[in-house]
Amino acid sequence: MSEEIKKERKKRSLSLIQPTSIPTLGNYLGAMKGWSSFQNDYDTVFGIADLHSITVRQDPKKLRQQTIELYALLLSVGLDPDKSILFIQSHVPQHSQLGWILNCYTMFGELNRMTQFKDKSQQHSDNVNSGLFTYPCLMAADILLYQADIVPVGADQKQHLEITRDIAERFNGIYGNVFTVPEAYIPKNGARVMSLADPTRKMSKSDPNPKGTVYLTDEPSVIMKKFKSAVTDSEMSVRYAEGKDGINNLMTIYSAVTGKDFDAIESEFAGKGYGDFKKAVGEAVVAELEPVQKKYNEYMADKAYLQEQWTKGAEIASKVSQRTLDKVMKKVGFLQK
Ligand code: AMP
Ligand code: TRP
Repeated sequence: MSEEIKKERKKRSLSLIQPTSIPTLGNYLGAMKGWSSFQNDYDTVFGIADLHSITVRQDPKKLRQQTIELYALLLSVGLDPDKSILFIQSHVPQHSQLGWILNCYTMFGELNRMTQFKDKSQQHSDNVNSGLFTYPCLMAADILLYQADIVPVGADQKQHLEITRDIAERFNGIYGNVFTVPEAYIPKNGARVMSLADPTRKMSKSDPNPKGTVYLTDEPSVIMKKFKSAVTDSEMSVRYAEGKDGINNLMTIYSAVTGKDFDAIESEFAGKGYGDFKKAVGEAVVAELEPVQKKYNEYMADKAYLQEQWTKGAEIASKVSQRTLDKVMKKVGFLQK
């Protein structure tokens, strides 16, 4: 019997996302679209990393608004509060508490090797604060509190997962098995979406050219306009080939949305011009996002429901994470209340 229970116990998957902007079509096709199916195979935890976001200066009003919007979007892409723990990081004080403790088990030299710290301190050279430096300790706390087995993240977060594993192993080495040592899960078939304005660069939230980035809440007419003005090449044929970055990107998007492979797309558009193709890709994206946007508008019109869900999420997250925190506090020698 106990063997069976063990076998049936699902592994835990956990991921957090920063509320620094409305997610893009790249975030959606590369990550979020796949998250809802995780709910069938894993015990899932998703959170909004608002504590992390203030390592870069935020406008308070905008931060509040973006946090609500992101929470509504997570529900709209299919994350279900009855299947997943869905919380806002600052509502769960255990993150800050374990974050501090882990600061004391992380070496200055380790943090100093983080490429994200180097990049961000160059981008924000007027505000190189210590939170930016110790960011990975808080991220390790996010993950280790829940004893997560896998952490779905983009390739840029791989180094942060490695330091999390190092911190967990160091702590376990001193105190016994306290933390599950997590694995990064970097999706292989998550589409890599490039900017529509410069298809040699990744579609990004922080792109200063708004024409290149499709946001999940863009109106259909805006989406169509962005696709119609997508940069392509001077050829005429819709085919996937080296040097045709713009067309390759549009084919990747079309394929990710419709499920058609590149051969099928090439035959569908044989003899047709780029204009027809761009229009078709735009329409496919509009159709894909339509149900997401419809739900998003419904959720945004019902703040009481959203609040109820994030309050419930915080309660469950606190309860689960307190178990780990209690263990840690006992191990390091803190007195019980
Ligand atoms: P970020 O926007 O960099 O915080 O990334 C959040 C998630 O979306 C990560 O899993 C990224 O790998 C993914 N992501 C971000 N931009 C893209 C893109 N242009 N194409 C595919 N995935 C992306
Ligand atoms: N650092 C991640 C990013 O910028 C966000 C994040 C914070 C996170 N805590 C996490 C991701 C825990 C996975 C697990 O994208």
